[in-house]
Amino acid sequence: MYKRLVRPALFSFDEEQSHALSEYALRVPWVWRSLGLQSKIGDPRLVAQVAGVSFPSPIGLAAGYDKNCRVLKSLVDLGFGFVCGGTVTLAERSGNPPRRMVRMPEALALLNSLGFPGQGLERIEPRIARLGRYRSRTFVSISGSIEDEIAACFRHLAPLVAGIELNISSPNTVGLRLFHDPARLRTLVESLRKVDNLRTPLLVKLPPWSNDAEGRRSSLALAETAVSAGADGLVIANTIPMEDSRLKVGNGGLSGLPLLENTVRMTAEVAALVGKDASVVSCGGVSTAEDVWRMLASGASAVQLYTAMVYEGPALPSRLNRGLLELMDYVGARTLSDISGPPPYRN
Ligand SMILES: Cc1cc2nc3c(=O)[nH]c(=O)nc-3n(C[C@H](O)[C@H](O)[C@H](O)COP(=O)(O)O)c2cc1C
Repeated sequence: MYKRLVRPALFSFDEEQSHALSEYALRVPWVWRSLGLQSKIGDPRLVAQVAGVSFPSPIGLAAGYDKNCRVLKSLVDLGFGFVCGGTVTLAERSGNPPRRMVRMPEALALLNSLGFPGQGLERIEPRIARLGRYRSRTFVSISGSIEDEIAACFRHLAPLVAGIELNISSPNTVGLRLFHDPARLRTLVESLRKVDNLRTPLLVKLPPWSNDAEGRRSSLALAETAVSAGADGLVIANTIPMEDSRLKVGNGGLSGLPLLENTVRMTAEVAALVGKDASVVSCGGVSTAEDVWRMLASGASAVQLYTAMVYEGPALPSRLNRGLLELMDYVGARTLSDISGPPPYRN
């Protein structure tokens, strides 16, 4: 029904209009709650542990879908184990000029150069404060180009959510590259730890890296720095920087299916490095239960997705929960930690 009727209609709008429409639809929470998309939430086999927090499914929504944290409750009710709101910045920002989003349906990919358009901490915080029972399923992503801005977002939001995701990796925002310097990242993470009496679970979202010795060495050094400075987990990874003249600013971040194999490789590399010291959340190109399986088998505790939901629709998380359970049944896996090797073949 969604694929035949709603999706073609949405695709006759431009990318940002379609997103605004889907967000508008999600503002009616009882509709999404009543669709039964959470039927597998509560199955003990799907319980995932991320940075010391327990979620009822390893399938999460990536940052950027609900930048202003307006519809997080409805998003949880689609069947996600957890969602990540934001990225929230201290001040309101208009982001980059349009055109700043391009659909690439033939590749099941998106290009964006949004650059953190958002209403800013002051307007978003009251919405997060009203999460109620959804709080335990919500992370919020924060960012900024100077340490004090990030610390202010952290101080206000950490007490209101299950955890914080520190975004140092959007390719569309001038200033974030500062924190790709390990010394600067260490100071930032350590300073957040100092302001945090609650010891809020903290994930750091890294930029992706290429499959060459230099890319691997510097990115793994950044991963190691984040963890030794006090992060409880890593999100691997953000979009891949790419030039494209269709975007007004000339470059943006690629997301979706083309990222998948790189995400599997990076997950394995980073999981081998951090071992049990930190959780790894794989993000980039996940769209099927088999993809989820591969990430978990490579050492991830959970996954996040964004682009696949644009193409597959709001029933995707629920389908992935069902599909993952089918795969687990096939090999007799009783918990997510029993998952290893390639996914079994499903008819
Ligand atoms: C339109 C769009 C906006 C995004 N905004 C953010 C953001 O604000 N913060 C962030 O950390 N990642 C952001 N991302 C990156 C996603 O969280 C994710 O890392 C990336 O899209 C790869 O996952 P996917 O292939 O499942 O989409 C955005 C991605 C897209 C497509």
